[in-house]
Amino acid sequence: MRSIVRSVLPLALFAAAFAACGKSEPRLSLQMVMYQIDFEEKAMREAAFGGDLAGVVRSGGEIQRWMGDPAFERYLARPNLPGEPAAFAELKAYFAGTLDEVLGMARSGDRDGVRGAYGRMRMACDVCHRDFRPGL
Ligand code: HEC
Repeated sequence: MRSIVRSVLPLALFAAAFAACGKSEPRLSLQMVMYQIDFEEKAMREAAFGGDLAGVVRSGGEIQRWMGDPAFERYLARPNLPGEPAAFAELKAYFAGTLDEVLGMARSGDRDGVRGAYGRMRMACDVCHRDFRPGL
């Protein structure tokens, strides 16, 4: 009996700990989310200039997904934001529009259009950084 308890108890504890972990979503800082976005943006640039439209769509989808991360809302709740929350929302929406444009070009098979739209999207990153991450 005791040996059963000894062998089952650790397993049960492990299972409980595992279940608890599974419930809580990882809470990333906006900086960590930005590093993911940065990684995908670089992959997108390579794909755009290599004519790999499927790669552009894949990275663009990942960027869209990261743009929906709750880290953005937590960031806005911070004290001492460098700019206005409404301006941040506008810049984020503007960026989303440029990303949609890249995806639209990629889906329609327009390789030149993708490169132009990619350039405008990349500038939209910096337009936001100018106000909200000065010095980047
Ligand atoms: C709507 C605003 C906004 C947009 C759009 C945006 N960023 Fe950011 N980015 C930020 C903010 C704010 C930070 C600072 C986060 C922090 O440190 O808490 C940041 C930080 C970063 C960092 C980390 C810098 C560091 O070392 O601290 C990188 C890299 C980055 N962004 C890349 C990008 C790229 C690439 C894009 C476009 C594909 C992009 N960002 C679009 C707001 C934005």
